[in-house]
Amino acid sequence: MTDSYPMPKNWRCPLDPPAEYKRLRREAPVTRVQVWDGSTPWLITRYDDAFAALGDPTLSMDFGLPGIPHTSPSSVARRDRIMSFPFRPDPEYRAQRAMLVQEFSARQMEALRPQIQRIVDETLDPMLAGPRPTDLMAAFALPMAIRVICDLLGVPSDDSMYLHGLSRTIGSRASSKETVGQTLDEMEGYFHRLVEANVRNPRDTLVGRVVAKNVLTGALSKQDAAAMFQMLFHAGHGPTAYMICMGVLALSLNPDQISELRVIADDPRQLSAAVQELLRYATVSHNGRQRVATEDVTIGGQLIRTGEGVLIQPDSANRDETAFPDPDRLDIHRTPQRNLALGHGIHTCTGRSLALVELEVVFHTLYQRVPTLRVAVPVEDIPFRQNDNLLGAYELPVTW
Ligand code: HEM
Repeated sequence: MTDSYPMPKNWRCPLDPPAEYKRLRREAPVTRVQVWDGSTPWLITRYDDAFAALGDPTLSMDFGLPGIPHTSPSSVARRDRIMSFPFRPDPEYRAQRAMLVQEFSARQMEALRPQIQRIVDETLDPMLAGPRPTDLMAAFALPMAIRVICDLLGVPSDDSMYLHGLSRTIGSRASSKETVGQTLDEMEGYFHRLVEANVRNPRDTLVGRVVAKNVLTGALSKQDAAAMFQMLFHAGHGPTAYMICMGVLALSLNPDQISELRVIADDPRQLSAAVQELLRYATVSHNGRQRVATEDVTIGGQLIRTGEGVLIQPDSANRDETAFPDPDRLDIHRTPQRNLALGHGIHTCTGRSLALVELEVVFHTLYQRVPTLRVAVPVEDIPFRQNDNLLGAYELPVTW
């Protein structure tokens, strides 16, 4: 019988991927699964196969192609609208992605470190002055991640929580296709107005610079620009906020690693490895990466025919025992780190360098300033988002 997807997860061990992946990696590493609409894409669970598949240009993320597997109705809604650049066919995708490469370069993001440090401190101060326990998501992770992306894009902070609400509707597997469609329209309407404002008067923000270089020269339509910025807001704050909370949960459940983190925190190389390990361990972008074969291709010994859909499972790959010894152990000293939490290949996370700087600043600051920070309730009392494209919680009560 074909397993249905997404696979059930034990929410008492929320940071562990569904147990079934372990069996699949051993017995059926490239196998058919059934998704909500009855289609049966291939599921790839081993690290080596996932790495090869993400790096293989014959596996496309063009949402216009019929074989793309839709893991929820919200995914179909994306296909039926103006698609933001990651979901476009190749020449358009590459052209639009290229417009962002410089904006998100490692050097540019490194230059933001002092500003990110200031935002982290300014968000943490009121939380520490307030009552405890408190919700880390609402008090710190979300406002800090939202402020960073809003400052970068040039979105007024007054609009940020409204946009965040829309973004969560889009990210939920429980939202209907119609709801997600309307929400995408509303969000793109907002960013369309921001594009118009920058057409009239380009500002020195990411939106302003992309508009000046590409919209004003005719290389990018206003609609495509709006879809691009909607995507950057959506992808640029949720995963970061969720990762902060899941990282704090992981460390709370492994307090020896907090002591270790405090020892190495001032060494940039070791801090970076620790952040990579937290990314690997939690893999908050846990939805299977959606691809379709544009030619016959063999992955892990399995022939995948042209037009067949593929889901590449990053949380399973990141716990593959053949790639990571003792994979279910959180070990902040683990090197080398070649995990897939931020993707791999052409679709590697655009905001990779930004996310890494944010997480380094956050985990350094949190445990230097609040060494006793810990989750305040038993795991079974944490309200997890059990039907979301991201692994996270509605709230994460913490104390110190
Ligand atoms: C901890 C935080 C983050 C995580 C875990 C994460 C994860 C990922 C993953 C796994 C992908 C690959 C998707 C695929 O291959 O199908 C991706 C793509 C992407 N991410 Fe991130 N991301 C994070 C932060 C950010 C930030 C801060 C931005 C900033 C704008 C961003 C923007 C994007 C965009 C635009 C894409 C699409 C890239 C493409 O298709 O070429 N992400 N992200």
